[in-house]
Amino acid sequence: MPMNRAHRRLCSSEKWAAGVRDRLLPWALDGVELGEDIVEIGPGYGANLRVLIEQVPNVTAVEIDAGTVDLLRAKWGDRARVLHADGAQLPLPDETYSAVVCFTMLHHVPTAEHQDRIFAEAFRVLRPGGTFAGADSQPNFRFRLLHIGDTMNTLDPAKLPARLSRAGFTDVSTSLHPESGGLRFSARRP
Ligand SMILES: C[S@@+](CC[C@H](N)C(=O)[O-])C[C@H]1O[C@@H](n2cnc3c(N)ncnc32)[C@H](O)[C@@H]1O
Repeated sequence: MPMNRAHRRLCSSEKWAAGVRDRLLPWALDGVELGEDIVEIGPGYGANLRVLIEQVPNVTAVEIDAGTVDLLRAKWGDRARVLHADGAQLPLPDETYSAVVCFTMLHHVPTAEHQDRIFAEAFRVLRPGGTFAGADSQPNFRFRLLHIGDTMNTLDPAKLPARLSRAGFTDVSTSLHPESGGLRFSARRP
């Protein structure tokens, strides 16, 4: 699922990686217990992955774009397992992981049904008690410009809790960032 050129430039920049490390991830994962075996869906150029491998002993990254998988393997393949797959069809066993996370990727998934299959897969691979957490952008003028010719299927914050509950999750929590307007969520497999 390739991104447009402006988008690729932004997501592969050091400026983006620093913002993810210093602002997005601390906010998105505030109070979230990751545990020791996590899956990141849609790592892109690895802005989140490079932080997560410093915090968690076993990280598996699942990326749908083959070229991006090659880049990730070259840079972080010695620290993380990088798989080429759709997050909606995880090639991973049931009830195995302490957390599944995804950041700034769900709006790249073209339909709500496809996003719901990702939620269902996150649920399937989590151990009982495991956490599904992440964050995604909300539409604004600049965001719409960045996505010209690109997929932009943002989550409706009002509908997300019910969608996560339907996937089987409990303890669903969502909130919007007071400045950026971004959406974060966390939920637990009972
Ligand atoms: C905007 S990038 C964000 C990358 C990274 N999470 C970040 O925050 O820098 C979205 C990434 O999700 C990947 N992606 C989109 N749909 C996916 C799916 N169904 N399964 C796995 N990865 C997916 C895209 O190929 C792209 O690398």
